[in-house]
Amino acid sequence: MIMNVKYRKLSESIYGTGYVWMLEKQFEYYHNHKHHCISVSNATLGIWASLSVLGLNEGDKVIVAPFSFGGTIAGVIQINPTIIFGDFDRISLSLSPESVRELLQKYSGVKAVIDVDFLGLPSRSKEISEICREHNVMYILDCANSFGTLNSGYPSGYFADISIYSLNSQKNLKGGEGGLICTRHKDIYKEIVMTYLHPDRQRKEYPVNNGLNQFSLNLRIHPLAAYMACKNFNKVLKKIDQKQRKILKNFPFLKAYYGDSIPNFNYILVNKKKVEIIQSSRDIEYLQFDLTGYYLPGDPKLLTTDVNIISHVEQRALQNLQILHIV
Ligand SMILES: Cc1ncc(COP(=O)(O)O)c(C=O)c1O
Repeated sequence: MIMNVKYRKLSESIYGTGYVWMLEKQFEYYHNHKHHCISVSNATLGIWASLSVLGLNEGDKVIVAPFSFGGTIAGVIQINPTIIFGDFDRISLSLSPESVRELLQKYSGVKAVIDVDFLGLPSRSKEISEICREHNVMYILDCANSFGTLNSGYPSGYFADISIYSLNSQKNLKGGEGGLICTRHKDIYKEIVMTYLHPDRQRKEYPVNNGLNQFSLNLRIHPLAAYMACKNFNKVLKKIDQKQRKILKNFPFLKAYYGDSIPNFNYILVNKKKVEIIQSSRDIEYLQFDLTGYYLPGDPKLLTTDVNIISHVEQRALQNLQILHIV
């Protein structure tokens, strides 16, 4: 595959042209051209960069999903707002819209809601994005695992103000390393380009001499990562589509269960004893588990006084999930 690389296109990566440009355009196409997309070195930094351009000050609050890989909030911790853990939705296992609404009514000074498509399961992002809009709060969705996931018939990041994808070696769309920041807002796109990308790219996109940021942190993607992801983009989407069709055909009850929000089936949560896919939160209680590496709101390091802790029984139940990796 590497034999097909066009070296000129690789060497253009600093300017955001060549394969980098192609990859970003593919992600824009994936989001129905409603988002502006920027490739970065990984999703963790992508989440941090997205949050940092929102201009959070001390005392500002963010609401975050209660379960995820630590990378969802690693950047949040760097910025150091007050973290409020929302309650989880029993189907998506990410934030419940009801709890987001309740917390936004209860607390002032919330600047962002950070949700995740947990293990590639579709979050309740359509409803949550509407609630956030009502409260004038940014909705950021960690889509690290959810390339190919459909949310109300749209690609998973579609409803978010900012969505972040990962291209690491464990993800569907692999670049070896890398990530994409996708945003509906052209001003946020510009801010990220000017703050975090190479001055040559800044100049290329916004051709002014004054106002260039020579001190950007250069979060750009490696051009070979962009190349790999770019070349595999359509193939991977097709493969996920086939997998979704096959699984829905073999487990017809899932059609009614998921509706038009369909996971990419990177992972399936199964009841180990019965070897069945879980259908409802009631089943969770009977499951075997391993959530190693994922944070739970009970971790004292992550707690603030504002933490909304889910009940002990629910925590125990979630620890009983078996995650079957089926990629
Ligand atoms: C939910 C979630 N968020 C963020 C990340 C971080 O992605 P990256 O490795 O690209 O920084 C991961 C990676 O596994 C993840 O699973």
